[in-house]
Formats: sequence, C-alpha cells, structure tokens
Amino acid sequence: MRSAAAPASVHVRAPGKINVFLAVGDVHDDGYHSLATVFQAVSLYEDVIATASPDFTVSVSGPDVDPATVPLDDRNLAVRAAKILAMATGYPGGVHLEIRKSVPVAGGMGGGSADAAAALVACDALWGTGLSSQRMHELAARLGADVPFALHGGTAVGTGRGDHLTPALAPGRFDWVLVLSDQGLSTPQIYRQLDEYRLEHGALADDPPESLDVPPAVLQALRSGDARALAEVVFNDLQVAALQDRPDLERVLAAGAEAGALAGLVSGSGPTIALLCASADDARRVQDECEERGLRALHVHSAVPGARIIA
Ligand code: C5P
Repeated sequence: MRSAAAPASVHVRAPGKINVFLAVGDVHDDGYHSLATVFQAVSLYEDVIATASPDFTVSVSGPDVDPATVPLDDRNLAVRAAKILAMATGYPGGVHLEIRKSVPVAGGMGGGSADAAAALVACDALWGTGLSSQRMHELAARLGADVPFALHGGTAVGTGRGDHLTPALAPGRFDWVLVLSDQGLSTPQIYRQLDEYRLEHGALADDPPESLDVPPAVLQALRSGDARALAEVVFNDLQVAALQDRPDLERVLAAGAEAGALAGLVSGSGPTIALLCASADDARRVQDECEERGLRALHVHSAVPGARIIA
C-alpha cells in the first residue's frame, strides 16, 4: 500500500530508439524472430505522469497524435505495464497514466515500448513497490521485446528477441535527422513480409542465417564515436520489407544522401527514416533541406539515458 509519504504523482521520461544495426534470423513458434541488434536511445521522448487512482485509466496527447491510432484500453502497453506491476506486487489500487507522446506512433522507434517502460518506473515509484532492477527487466521483457531497452537506454546490443541486453560502449554523440511519415507501419506485418521475401528469394525462413552476430566494426565505430565509420556499417534487415510497403521511402533516403547525410536507414520496422549526419551543424542543414522538400524532419542525438524520474 502507499505510505503517507507516497507522492501524489510521478513524472517519468523514456526515450525512443534507433536500431543502428538489425539482423533478423529465423522465426520461432511464438512468432518472434531471433535478432542481433544494436539499439541507441535518441533524444525524442515519451513523458508519462502517473497519478494515484482507484482504477486504471490513460490519456494520450502529443503534437502528432491521432487519437484513433492509440488505444485507451488494455491494449495500451502503458496500461498493461501498470497492471502487470500491480499483479506482480499485489498492489490493490490503480493509476491514471497521462502520456505525452513525442515519438511517432507506429514509427519503428519504440514509442509504445517507451510508454511501457516509463509506466513501470512511474508506478513503482508512485506505489512504493520497490522492485529490483532485475525484476523490472523481467516484467519489461514480458511486455515487449523493446521494452527492456527503453528502461536501459544508452547503447546496447540486443539478442534473443532483442530483449537480452548487453551494454555497449559509445561515449561519443551521434547526430541524426529523423524523417517522419504520416502513416505508421505494422511491426508484425513487416516481419511477416521479410519472411515471405526470403522464401521468394530462396532463403528459407526456417534456415537459420549463417551467423547472427553484430559485426565488430559496428561496435568499434560506436566506441570511437566516429560517425563516418558508423555510416559504413549501419544496417537493417527489415528495410527491404518496409520499402516494399512504402516504396516512397526510397526517395526520402535519396533526399537524405543529396542533402549531405552520411547514411540513411529505416528505423526498426519503419516507416521513420534515420539519417546519420557528421555533426550537429550538418544535421541542421540536412533537416532544413529535407523540410524545403516538404518532408517532416527532426534533429535528434544519441545516445541518451533510459526511463528516468523527472524531478
Ligand atoms: O515485442 P513487440 O510487441 O514489440 O513485437 C511486436 C511484433 O514484432 C511481434 O508480435 C512480432 O510479430 C514482431 N517481432 C518479431 N521478432 C522480434 C521482435 C518483434 O517477430 N524479435
């Protein structure tokens, strides 16, 4: 139960992510694929404010939020996070979650996962449930493959479903321009399309790829903080499937290259495009040029911390 000293509300901020490297392996019986990925948390955040309440309720707002695209019932990952924490700890009450979104909905940047991670941290503080980091990570992994990383933040290698995390050294700053889309893409559908593409092109989905590893060059580039070296090795297996659905994104990638980005890739399952830039000044120029072409572009940097309480 909440003690007399428990806060009336708790504000937590959690970041969106880019997969700077994403290799997809075979599909398992549970529908999930083996992954070898490197996440970086970027300076685009979800804010979740948890307020004590007898019931579980949620509200969602944000500059680009179409209310029709975000469920307000138990399908909302933040509500599921709060309920799973209450179940795990025997907390008898509820919570109102106010979600202020900045990460694009269904954009391939883990916005829903960030909401879930923020809700776990916020409810734990609000309810005084005092979960260990390990227990928090276990609950996060039950909510979704990307949720543990949203808790963790920074830079990490993800294996298994993407939820087995190993921190990676990346002390430097990388500047990115994100080009947003009006329409989201469905993550399960993009994974399915990749399986179909591989079947059609001779790579059987149940044939494990020869090696599902993060190449050392990716980790070296991150360690050195060298954007040009990173640009040589960024990679996303899901890109081919996302581009099948959204061939217009090829033009966005070409526009990024013409504007001076070092590299461009689909973020996660898309459709957000992440353009890696040589510096903050370069990123501002790339952003301006993208906007002049009528694209919606944001300048962000990596890597930033995971879900944390805002004073
Ligand atoms: O875990 P999460 O809900 O974020 O995953 C959404 C969907 O993405 C899964 O239902 C699955 O279809 C696909 N996915 C996958 N393999 C992974 C991660 C996600 O096939 N490792």
